[in-house]
Amino acid sequence: MAKKLLILAGDGIGPEVMAQVRRIIDWMAKKRQISFDVSEGLVGGCSYDAHGVPLTDETMAEALAADAVLLGAVGGQKWDDLPFELKPERGLLRLRKDMDLFANLRPAFVFDALAEASTLKTDLVRGLDIMIVRELTGGVYFGQPRGIETLPNGERRGVNTQVYTTSEIVRVARVAFELARKRGRKMHSVEKANVMESGLLWREEVQKLRDAEYADVELQHMYADNCAMQLVRNPKQFDVIVTDNLFGDLLSDCAAMLTGSLGMLPSASLGAADAQGRRRALYEPVHGSAPDIAGKDMANPLATILSFAMMLRYSFDMMAEADLVEKAVKNVLDGGLRTADIMQPGKARVSTTVMGEAIVRELDKLAG
Ligand code: IPM
Ligand code: MG
Repeated sequence: MAKKLLILAGDGIGPEVMAQVRRIIDWMAKKRQISFDVSEGLVGGCSYDAHGVPLTDETMAEALAADAVLLGAVGGQKWDDLPFELKPERGLLRLRKDMDLFANLRPAFVFDALAEASTLKTDLVRGLDIMIVRELTGGVYFGQPRGIETLPNGERRGVNTQVYTTSEIVRVARVAFELARKRGRKMHSVEKANVMESGLLWREEVQKLRDAEYADVELQHMYADNCAMQLVRNPKQFDVIVTDNLFGDLLSDCAAMLTGSLGMLPSASLGAADAQGRRRALYEPVHGSAPDIAGKDMANPLATILSFAMMLRYSFDMMAEADLVEKAVKNVLDGGLRTADIMQPGKARVSTTVMGEAIVRELDKLAG
């Protein structure tokens, strides 16, 4: 049975970068006899324009029924003035929440060819390989109470609530420990236990889980502000980082820049495994919709292509195909092709489309 794949390209550069993934999907069908049952839907501003909401119930139902969802990006100035619950971002947050995708994996991996494209010194980032595990369905982005109210004195007051329960902390920490076991058995847990009770709880629960079940993994606790500093001071000290929704949002953008460009970073958002071992999952690049360059055929499609590779790996157990796609990306970069965001002296600057075509050609070569 063909796996059901729902593609939500979204806004801005979303559709352009997703078009390159479609090439790879076509290639897989033609050359590897791997067919996906692909359907497409709207999320974000484009859904608001068509339906008046950033995600319809029908699309939500399709996402729940899919074996995996692949998302481009949401948002743009055009929709900035909409009320909160209609903003494009709410569509994405609803997908994450209703699919219960609590574990967000954001690998920051530096391709050798791009070590010099980083804004940091080459030595600091060469060989870098960090896995950030961000809690994705709790914390201050979802906590109640929330809202903006007008006080009796006419002043306005905005409220958001940072809140975590033990089970929310333990389930995401478990995913991180399991990943740490498959990597260097080293994990940093990041919070602000010095000023936040939810952070203190986070620290205590992660430590408890480690002592009870993961004594083979070296665990260090770190404050989030220090972690931001350490990421640009000495990023190679990190292997797996587990952190909450807000800090994970910030730290993963920061880690992305170590790799040369936000345009390189994929992500996987996973739910709990069911009795058959099947997990709900959504894959998306870490970068946003970049409205300033949308429609210009200059966006970097590699983060979305690498997200597709993560999908092959984590949802479909297609390790050989995942390796193949990642290898193709590596080889094309080694060959000197660069989109604008990772352009370096002496390299060939190419468009989104040409980069996508180059990856497919490389797949052809690799697969013989
Ligand atoms: C991300 C993005 C989203 C987030 C936005 C678009 C809602 O910044 O995936 O990191 O804040 O989680
Ligand atoms: Mg973000």
